Amino acid sequence: MAGPLSPSKSDSTVIIVLGASGDLAFKKTYPALFGLYKNGFVPQNTDIVGYARSHIELDDFRKRVSSKIKTSNDEEKSFLTKFLGRCTYVSGKYDDAESFKKLNEAVDNIQKNASGAKHRVFYMALPPSVFIPASEGLRQHVYAKDGNNRLIVEKPFGKDSESSDKLAQALSQHWQEEEARSPIYRIDHYLGKEMVKNLMILRFANIFFGAIWNRQYIDNVQITFKEPIGTQGRGGYFDEFGIIRDIMQNHLLQILSIVAMDKPQSLDAEHVRDEKVKVLRAIEPLTLDNVLLGQYTKSEDGKEAGYLDDEGVPKDSVTPTFAAAAFQIKNERWNGVPFILKCGKALDAQKTEVRIQFQDVPGNIYPGVARNELVVRVQPEEAVYMKFNNKQPGLSSTAITSELDLSYSRRYQDVKIPDAYESLILDVIKGDKANFVRDDELDAAWKIFTPLLHKIEGEKIKPELYPFGSRGPASLSKFVEKYGFKRDAEYNWSPPKM
Ligand code: BG6
Repeated sequence: MAGPLSPSKSDSTVIIVLGASGDLAFKKTYPALFGLYKNGFVPQNTDIVGYARSHIELDDFRKRVSSKIKTSNDEEKSFLTKFLGRCTYVSGKYDDAESFKKLNEAVDNIQKNASGAKHRVFYMALPPSVFIPASEGLRQHVYAKDGNNRLIVEKPFGKDSESSDKLAQALSQHWQEEEARSPIYRIDHYLGKEMVKNLMILRFANIFFGAIWNRQYIDNVQITFKEPIGTQGRGGYFDEFGIIRDIMQNHLLQILSIVAMDKPQSLDAEHVRDEKVKVLRAIEPLTLDNVLLGQYTKSEDGKEAGYLDDEGVPKDSVTPTFAAAAFQIKNERWNGVPFILKCGKALDAQKTEVRIQFQDVPGNIYPGVARNELVVRVQPEEAVYMKFNNKQPGLSSTAITSELDLSYSRRYQDVKIPDAYESLILDVIKGDKANFVRDDELDAAWKIFTPLLHKIEGEKIKPELYPFGSRGPASLSKFVEKYGFKRDAEYNWSPPKM
């Protein structure tokens, strides 16, 4: 069913985490499940079964789960003990019927005394190579017959249009996208971030933003992701994918689609996703001319290693660890407004933000004033701020840049912003698919990137080198200027001091 899981006390829900011995499960999935459990957001009678290839004793498994969960008082500690009591572990292969039958027996055993419906949520945090056999095995041997089934899948969803289609077809053979009883939830964890979830409200619940959100007032849009860390031993995986597939094709493009889409008819998941698909389809495929690629080398002080020093990375790799690209949306609202997406590893800061830069004031009478900007700071230090011009207080009549600043740390001091995974798993439990990627959305996204990726890989295009800890390739400033961005070098926003 599309509605919430487990409305009744007599129901049982089992969440099966595949890839339970991996990093993602320990660092994200289990802590998120604990967060929901602690706050009473998982349905009553929920159990969690971890599944992976490694043989791990249950006690050791529980120790590993708890090692990544922070508790700050006795009440939380006692919740953690109860939570761990509901976590079990089964080891087995991803392409073996017997293994899945064993998993099914374990789940049946947990659910055997439930008099109501028996729901199952499958969370696939798996490497792409086992994705298809695992989804088949689950469907054939572990599928709930007396309750709802939900399948959560993690990226990568293929490497280009062709491989993504193949995956989607294999998945839909058993787990139909439109079949009410077996919906697929493709996770893009950026869609669970507080400030990404806020974008639609900002746009569609404020009349003044609605009125100026178009090519008449907006000059350019930048969406930036910066990480101060390198690949850190993940180089083997990363080298196969590169920054465009790791960050831009999914996380940043998802943000772009929400910033650029038209207002959906309602908040219904299909209405929202229809609008996202529509705008993605209006984007022209990228070409090398509107892209800047980079790869990090060791830091200037020599303390941080370069990308090619990572053990898993071939010494002659040309895989980009930085990319900037300008997207053109061919529709009435956006024609001629570049959307510049930038992402990189081993940069000077950690930061994700959306920056809408407005046009110069027409017939301006205050020379030198900076452009207005609306910035949605996704992380860290969540904030929405508007750069605007203000009279210099005092006897001067000069216009200076200031800001209207909604910094969350000051305005919402008592609120703990939930982790993205917590928020998304809760959406799965509620049956709300608005923040998950639909198959046609994925298809439209790959169409924008596939020709470029094939060109980069086919011709082994060399990225521009940049030192670890810098702002990225030296030609970045020229690149963004080319698309109209005017940098106000004198202005620097800093989060409020508490
Ligand atoms: C993942 C990427 O999807 O997102 C990682 O594979 C990246 O390379 C991570 O580090 C960033 O997520 P967050 O939530 O830490 O910004």
